[in-house]
Amino acid sequence: MSNVRSSAALSRSDLEALWLPFTANRQFKANPRLLARASGMHYWTADGRQILDAVAGLWCVNAGHARHEITQAVAGQLETLDYGPSFQMAHPAAFQLANELVKIAPEGLDHVFFTNSGSEAVDTALKIALAFHRVRGAGTRTRLIGRERAYHGVGFGGISVGGIVSNRRTWSAALIAGVDHLPHTHDLARNAFSRGLPQHGAQLAEELERLVALHDASNIAAVIVEPVAGSTGVLLPPRGYLQKLREICDRHGILLIFDEVITGFGRTGSAFAAEEFGVRPDMMTLAKGLTNGCIPMGGVLVSKAIYEQFMQGPEGIELFHGYTYSGHPAACAAGLATLALYEREGLLTRAASLAKYWEDAAHALRDLPQVVDVRNYGLILGLELEPIAGRPGARGFEVFARCFERGVLVRQTGEVIALSPPLIIEKPQIDQIFDTLREVLRAQ
Ligand SMILES: Cc1ncc(COP(=O)(O)O)c(C=O)c1O
Repeated sequence: MSNVRSSAALSRSDLEALWLPFTANRQFKANPRLLARASGMHYWTADGRQILDAVAGLWCVNAGHARHEITQAVAGQLETLDYGPSFQMAHPAAFQLANELVKIAPEGLDHVFFTNSGSEAVDTALKIALAFHRVRGAGTRTRLIGRERAYHGVGFGGISVGGIVSNRRTWSAALIAGVDHLPHTHDLARNAFSRGLPQHGAQLAEELERLVALHDASNIAAVIVEPVAGSTGVLLPPRGYLQKLREICDRHGILLIFDEVITGFGRTGSAFAAEEFGVRPDMMTLAKGLTNGCIPMGGVLVSKAIYEQFMQGPEGIELFHGYTYSGHPAACAAGLATLALYEREGLLTRAASLAKYWEDAAHALRDLPQVVDVRNYGLILGLELEPIAGRPGARGFEVFARCFERGVLVRQTGEVIALSPPLIIEKPQIDQIFDTLREVLRAQ
């Protein structure tokens, strides 16, 4: 028997103790949106309304909700081995999941370090980058390079290489030292209403050369970018941009890290954005879709060269890093069942077959007066709206709230509506999403 109370039975005072993350708590508690259950493409609210999930939870439920194969695998694992320490000990499912991941990873990324979230994956990748240069005798390479408008989670490493103003304002004194930022690539003036990758902006990667000229390559450890930035409003890489970054990193011995926490596991139409865009990073951070969102898990895929470098060091612990729950048995079981489901249902490439339909449906919103940009790739959408004067974010929030009332969950980030539905979505559901957005925007 579960001792979780039905959410319909929660009173106003029951809502008080919990401090909700990335939420306007007072506003939320005055008008809570409570989810009670989920299945396939849908949530059901505590008051019984069906909500179409246009965002895969938070870009994570790629195979749709409450998939029996995954929940059964997790339950079975918990009955068999609920927990095992991951320091100087291990269990078979962790190795199996690492092997399965390596099979679908871009060639050459053939080792995995497990974490519990995207934020931990990012901090782990940054730590590996610094440690890698040190063990190979290039310990002066300590500088990290991120990008404006990047989101790399909430750890001190992630917010330091990230480019989100509110993080930098609040925690400026605690940001790690020796970090530079490339310019972001968002260029509405030249790229608005691009279909797929924007045409203009590849030359922005040259800014990396400027930073190399300033600091000297011998001081730079790594560059980290999201191939597609999601949290700051769906920013797509200009054509050729990622290739240029790779070339410059290669020229100067700088590691290139792709943060694929949202782009991993089929979102772009390939298993990973690295494959979709034809650029191989040295490390790749993962989370979210790794377990279809049902058990927290993240990981860092690492190149053979990096792993081998550590294995040539002195005997003993090669990387002084890890989490109590690295490779947790339940998460590994979820991951294995998830990857099997992706494979069986062809979900890692399904976005490619729906991308044109998605794109056409999205760009049909272009005639609405509030719409200043529509940008799309695979099953990703950024719908940028004209802000209401003096009330930044208000229009986006209003659209989010009205869509939810009309039975569609969208995500708002500032003035951008960001969509990333489960990859099992069908065309009539795509129509429902865009019809709802049209109705809501028309009514504004
Ligand atoms: C690109 C990227 N990196 C890292 C993270 C952080 O992941 P988590 O919330 O699992 O810590 C996110 C979360 O949305 C993300 O989009």
